[in-house]
Amino acid sequence: MAITRSLWQETRTFFPLFLSLIKERGAKSVCVVGASDGKFVLPLVRRGIRVVAIERNTTALNGGPVVLPGGVESTMSGLRKRLAEEGFSNLVEIVEADILDLTAELEPSDAVWTSCSWHYSINHRRPLGEFVATMKSLCRPHGGVFGAEYMMPVEPRHLTLEHYPEEGGMRHHFPGWTIDWETYTPPFLEAPHVEQLHQHVHRMGLIIATHQQEENDED
Ligand SMILES: C[S@@+](CC[C@H](N)C(=O)[O-])C[C@H]1O[C@@H](n2cnc3c(N)ncnc32)[C@H](O)[C@@H]1O
Repeated sequence: MAITRSLWQETRTFFPLFLSLIKERGAKSVCVVGASDGKFVLPLVRRGIRVVAIERNTTALNGGPVVLPGGVESTMSGLRKRLAEEGFSNLVEIVEADILDLTAELEPSDAVWTSCSWHYSINHRRPLGEFVATMKSLCRPHGGVFGAEYMMPVEPRHLTLEHYPEEGGMRHHFPGWTIDWETYTPPFLEAPHVEQLHQHVHRMGLIIATHQQEENDED
């Protein structure tokens, strides 16, 4: 079995916090929104967790040409090939779709995770609350875990967009949920990577929350 790497492997992430919490809770299924080429999908399936991987970018799923830092032309393997190479295709349901236009009827998962996805400009056409509400609906009622790391504002234009929440700006999306973790980085330098070819400044927030309601309760 070949161990393969995501093109996003080196970007900073709070994922280990999310992973340790869902392992403690015994999660058997996770939905990854904006799954790309599997930076988070592979570590989950390697632990025997079933994954629903939602992604709108066909190159990330099927592979294809990409430009890497330094203008290097390369080829992305893509999630499907990475899963096949490691023998995990049968543990993952891939949903090639924009989460804001999701029509597939999906079984709710024990947890749902996204990493720096909702700030993409394609999502600015709809309120951030719709993205969050769809993610919440993919999380099982009573005990389901919602995890998201997200970009915070570092440029003046970000301050005009709710898709770059400030500190505390996510809490109001979670009435009836328990917030397990809420934390923020200071601004930090991120090394060049796919899609951002030059060194850049990021600030990231994390929210992990648990659904406390029974199946038929309303939010
Ligand atoms: C920061 S990227 C990389 C993914 C992940 N953070 C990683 O490290 O592998 C976020 C991903 O979210 C996806 N994405 C953004 N908005 C989306 C949407 N509305 N529906 C589905 N995927 C989306 C993008 O296509 C991109 O692949």
